[in-house]
Amino acid sequence: MAQRDMDRINVGLIGFGTVGTGVVKILKENAGILKDKLGCEVVLKKIADHDIVRDRGVHVEQDILTTDGREVINDPEISIVIELIGGTGAAKDLIMEAMDRGKHVVTANKALLSIHGREIFEKAARKGVDIYFEASVGGGIPVIKALREGLVANRIESMYGIINGTANYILSKMTNDGGRFEDVLRRAQEKGYAEADPSYDVEGIDTANKLAILINLAYGTYVNPGDIYTEGIASVSQLDIKFAKEFGYRIKLLAIAKAVDSRIEARVHPTMIPASHPLANTDGVYNAIHMRGNAVGSVMLYGLGAGMMPTASAVVADIADICRNIRKGAANRITPLSYTEDAVREVGIKDISSLEMPYYIRFLAMDKPGVLSKISGVLGAHNISISSVIQKDRKIGGAVPLVIVTHNAFERELRSSMEEIEKLDIIQDKVVYIRIEENIGAAN
Ligand code: NDP
Ligand code: HSE
Repeated sequence: MAQRDMDRINVGLIGFGTVGTGVVKILKENAGILKDKLGCEVVLKKIADHDIVRDRGVHVEQDILTTDGREVINDPEISIVIELIGGTGAAKDLIMEAMDRGKHVVTANKALLSIHGREIFEKAARKGVDIYFEASVGGGIPVIKALREGLVANRIESMYGIINGTANYILSKMTNDGGRFEDVLRRAQEKGYAEADPSYDVEGIDTANKLAILINLAYGTYVNPGDIYTEGIASVSQLDIKFAKEFGYRIKLLAIAKAVDSRIEARVHPTMIPASHPLANTDGVYNAIHMRGNAVGSVMLYGLGAGMMPTASAVVADIADICRNIRKGAANRITPLSYTEDAVREVGIKDISSLEMPYYIRFLAMDKPGVLSKISGVLGAHNISISSVIQKDRKIGGAVPLVIVTHNAFERELRSSMEEIEKLDIIQDKVVYIRIEENIGAAN
């Protein structure tokens, strides 16, 4: 690039939706700040979207709009392509083709990167272009940069994340204001905090995709998000939220990864965590990620994990990084995972049944003498030790909730003991159990 070209770097946007609109706003409103920081002007040369008529609330010249994403990637004057259409179909084709044409890429597409990350990152390396993806996890929170750069000196011992705003909003509302999952979800949909089809968010799929990306960065690997044990929040009840409070916990949908010997623990599920932990107080649509590095100790990042402007903030940060790389002739200065290509390796995920942790277990049990001893007998036979027990009501001859918190127990033993206990005639319903994380941030 000639020096004159270095003073103006052309970017092209595909996807003028929620995040795309935020990106256009920031590039316009903060053009001066960006120029002062980058030493160059970021010029939005083309925007592609299916709909180029709708008023997006930000002025753009009509002649830069097109309905064809390929007009963006085929423009020889565009150096950086910003993919913000989402999904794993057209988005993948456009990104791959853009890199084939020597373009650098910015994307927020966690669904795509969690599944096709390896193929996309390997192409970026072959083509000598940059791919940045800060907004794919934690919206505006710079967690990707933290893992790739700020924490580069560390072996990451553990990561605990609240990385889905929709699920966190619903759980926080249920905890703070009461209400059943179905009713709170419906109200969240009415307010626009949850999608019409909420399954991706409430079933934990989005969280598992994002956790896969964090694991890949932390451990220099490519895990399949489908291999991450994933449970959503639909089964969380008011009863469990109230009992959790009595035991000093709050329930959060947590993404958990821990390095254990040469393998990793990776799981997504509703988790009881101490009410005093900062993660327990991350409410509403906020996200937070707690990481422990063997040198730095505990680090926690907190902020808005979604929404037009926070997400666009992360996208524009990526554009800025690439502009700086272009100006210094330093594309690929940092590899996508921050591990060199030959250091990327397979890391096995431990099967959930082999993990050991404390559990909260709720039974609907007959209120009569000898019930607790029957239950504790089965638990004892599975080497599960009881830490505390609560039975709230009295209903002689009827069924009442009976809650047990265990010491560390193996998941496989817990599951077999639950199967046995459910067959006892003193048990009236399916047993509910929720995993507990007592020592978030403690050294492994
Ligand atoms: P939107 O649906 O609001 O915007 C996407 C836009 O792209 C729509 O206008 C869509 O048009 C258009 N589009 C889709 N396919 C094409 C195509 N082939 N060619 C041209 N235009 C196309 O999505 P968001 O802005 O919310 O999300 C964008 C990305 O950012 C996704 O990967 C998402 O996961 C990620 N993200 C979003 C966050 C958020 O808060 N919204 C937070 C973090 C990440 P049409 O509607 O007609 O299909
Ligand atoms: N649906 C996601 C959430 C958007 O609720 O967090 C951000 O990825």
